[in-house]
Parts: sequence; structure tokens; C-alpha cells
Amino acid sequence: MMNLDFPNSKHDESRQGEALVLDKPVLKNNGRKLYIESYGCAMNFSDSEIVASILADQGFETTSDFKEADVIFINTCSIRENAEQRVRNRLKEFKVSKMRNPGMVVGVLGCMAERLKAKFLEEEKLVDVVVGPDAYRDLPNLIEQVDGGQKAVNVLLSREETYADISPVRLNSNGINAFVSIMRGCDNMCSFCVVPFTRGRERSRDAFSIVKECGDLFNAGYKEVTLLGQNVDSYKWTSEEGITMNFAGLLEFVALINPKLRVRFSTSHPKDITDEVLLTMKKYDNICKYIHLPIQSGNSRILELMNRTYDRAWYMNRIDAIRRILPGCAISTDVITGFCSETEEEHQETLSMMDYVQYDFAYMFMYSERPGTLAAKRYADDIPEEVKGRRLREIVDKQQAHSYKRLLEQIGQVQQVLIEKRSKKSELDYSGRSDKNATVVFPADDRFKPGDYVDVLIEKCTTATLIGKIIG
Ligand code: SAH
Ligand code: SF4
Ligand code: F3S
Repeated sequence: MMNLDFPNSKHDESRQGEALVLDKPVLKNNGRKLYIESYGCAMNFSDSEIVASILADQGFETTSDFKEADVIFINTCSIRENAEQRVRNRLKEFKVSKMRNPGMVVGVLGCMAERLKAKFLEEEKLVDVVVGPDAYRDLPNLIEQVDGGQKAVNVLLSREETYADISPVRLNSNGINAFVSIMRGCDNMCSFCVVPFTRGRERSRDAFSIVKECGDLFNAGYKEVTLLGQNVDSYKWTSEEGITMNFAGLLEFVALINPKLRVRFSTSHPKDITDEVLLTMKKYDNICKYIHLPIQSGNSRILELMNRTYDRAWYMNRIDAIRRILPGCAISTDVITGFCSETEEEHQETLSMMDYVQYDFAYMFMYSERPGTLAAKRYADDIPEEVKGRRLREIVDKQQAHSYKRLLEQIGQVQQVLIEKRSKKSELDYSGRSDKNATVVFPADDRFKPGDYVDVLIEKCTTATLIGKIIG
């Protein structure tokens, strides 16, 4: 629940830096092994699946051990300074392997690659190839270039690339939940954020290719898809016939694939989330009643400096709309504390907003200045670290109380749970998630297996987990 340095709400901290491997052998194996690990948001993890798919077509197998790899890729995140530091430290660990095997190709992919470009090659000598998020189709050529003894860089951003036609292979998949990118980039220019610089302009993917991918996943046994974008509410795609689809339309299109396919999405932007989206969620039982709606700050002056384009009153109005249209819907958020010039009173307004919403869950961060952003150019990063730290602690404490309260409220309810796996703590228990995205643990029952839906009576909870038993 407390998450101080996790880059994005769309992924669980346990997956950061995880080695990602294919669940099936590749055709036309070329005898070379790819090791790929990912940092950052779910979009980066989803991109790693596109990368693995492009290289699988070239005959690359995946390995979970970088020491035996011929190609090491690290798919990076730039969102906060510590995210970048983590990658730099990791590169040091690869150095030994590279010394032992000089023919090994080391590549940096993703947002740090895009931010630092060729500078990366100067700063980190062991890196051979630097590839930005829109240039993955070029990977086979770039690897060839490195094989020929040169360093290679492609960090061109695109206005069109959505990799729509590449049906990604799944990495480390449980065969139940999958992430599907519906758009790329971001046009919002929040003053603290590097994403518009590392991911480029916003573009939406062909709706039919999204529905096809989700349908194929369902046919392959998947039970839950999460539609991904930095700002899903601004999804907008026009077909060749001139038919335009917005996010509400896409959501409906995906929900109609099958009532047994659960649909989630992330991230919603407070300025753009419409009642139409909320009404679509209400109309379909298989669209999960859970919304991630990052507030960042509860104070209107700070929101203005952040260029979030909504204020406190607007955000509250959106929360009221969710409560009205979708009673009981879970809501989570992201908070940045200690943004440039934030006063104590303004910090108090973030705390009072948290009291107003009583979020089910939150990701909470200290402001980290990012080179090149509007905030870095215009405003001084003037809140001392210890003040940022103390404010963060107050926010985290409040959130823990709210998260616990939200779980306690669910005791006595019967909830539909999608079984995902055996519980980490006990082989005798199953673990899954409720519609509202809470983790639910309950005694395993041989009649059911991961991938099945079960009705669970919630009997008690810890501070982070609901505990119950299967009924009926
Ligand atoms: N597109 C999403 C957020 C993507 S980044 C949105 O607009 O809500 C995920 C989260 O990282 C952000 O919501 C923000 O809380 C945090 N974040 C982004 N830049 C940051 C920075 N410079 N310092 C601290 N946290 C940051
Ligand atoms: Fe960054 Fe703002 Fe875009 Fe989110 S909406 S990715 S915070 S610029
Ligand atoms: Fe990080 Fe890039 Fe995602 S900066 S949060 S990996 S879009």
C-alpha cells in the first residue's frame, strides 16, 4: 500500500526488473538467447512483449539468466531520478558478463534511452545499442549493426507507430491476465513529467486491432484484459470509412467480446473522464468497478503550476459523478508531495482531499525534478528533502488508514473473485482479485482452478488483503 518509489500504478512493484521469458519455444531458432528485463509502468512491460515478439520472429529464444544471454535488453523508466539510478546500478551488474563474453550485445530500451539518446553510449561504455520506444521494429537491423562491430542508436519518435499489427507474445504470463496497449504517447505536458518527451505525441491504436487482440486472448483462455494508455479518456480513433470511436465506445466494444472476459483500464485523467465512460461501466457487469484517477495535489494553485488543467473543485465533481453513477466503485490515485513552492496549507489540502475521497489505494511520491520538463525550467525545486519526507509520511499514514477502512467495509459481502494463483503465503490457499481490484485469499477447493470465477464470502481482512471462503 505504501509505495515510495514505484514508477507507475499500472504495475506491481514485485515485477520491476523481473526477467521476462516466453512461454513457448520460438520457430526457426537462431541459437541466440535474449534476456530482457523491464522497469516502469505497464506500458513498458507491454512494450517488452512487442520487442520479444519482433525478436522471436528472428529466431531469438528468451532466457531468465542474463549470464547465458547473447543479447541483454533493459527496458527503462525515467519518471523519477531513483528509477534511472536503479537502471544504472543494474548495468554495473551486467559488466562482468560482458567482460566474459565480449560478443554479447547490451541494449538500453525505453524512456531513458529516449531521454539520453546517444549520450548513453558515452556515459555507459558497456552499452552497444540505444533504442527509443517507437523504434522497436528496427531492432533486427540495429543488432546486425552491433554484430558488425558498431554501436547503434535509433531514438526517432513517431506520430503514427502503434505496433497495431504486431500481436505481442506474452512474457511471464499466468495465462489469465493480460495488458493491451490502446494508445501511445501523451500530449498533456504536466509540468513535472518526462513522459511527453520520452514517449512522444499521443496516438490511438486501431480499434479493430485492439478488439481482435482481446478476442484472441479470450479464445486462448485469458479472463481479464487491462487496456493501457497514459490518458485512456482521450482515446480517439477514426476508421478509413470515417467512423470515429472514443474511449467509451472502445470500452463497450471490448466488453461485448464475452461477459466472462473482465475489462480493466488505466490511467484515467480527471480532466477527461466523462459521464459517458462511467455510464458504460455501469451498463456492463464485466467492466470492473475500479478507477485509477490521479489527483497529484489537492490544492488548486499547485495543480495550476503542475499544468494539470483541472482544479480541486473539478476533481471533486468527478469523484461525485463516480459515486453517483457507480456507487461502491473503488477509486485509487497518485499523489506527488513537495512540488515546487508547496506550502504547509497547500499540503493540508491534499490531506483533506484524501479525507473527502477516502481512496481504496494510492501511489505516493516525493517530487523528483526531471531535466527538460517545464517545472525544471520554470520553478525551483525548493522544498527541502526532509520536509518532502515528512509530508509524504503524513500522506502515507492517512492512506493506510483509508485503505484499511475500505477493506473493513467489505466484510460480510459476497464478491466475485477471479482466481489467479496459489497464495504466496500458503499452498493451501488461492489468491485472486475482486471486481474492485482488491486481493482476496481463501482456502483452495479442488472443484476450481486458476482462471475460474468464484463467489467468495469476505470474512475478515488484513491491512492489504481480504480473506474469505468460497460459497455455493
Ligand atoms: N499518465 C498518468 C501518470 C503517469 S506517471 C497520469 O497522468 O495520471 C505515474 C505517476 O508518477 C504520476 O501520476 C505521478 O504521480 C508520478 N510522477 C510523474 N512524474 C513525477 C516526478 N517528476 N516526480 C514524482 N512523481 C512523478
Ligand atoms: Fe505525464 Fe501528465 Fe501525461 Fe500523465 S497526463 S503521462 S502525468 S504528462
Ligand atoms: Fe516510466 Fe516511461 Fe512508463 S518514464 S512510467 S516507463 S512511460
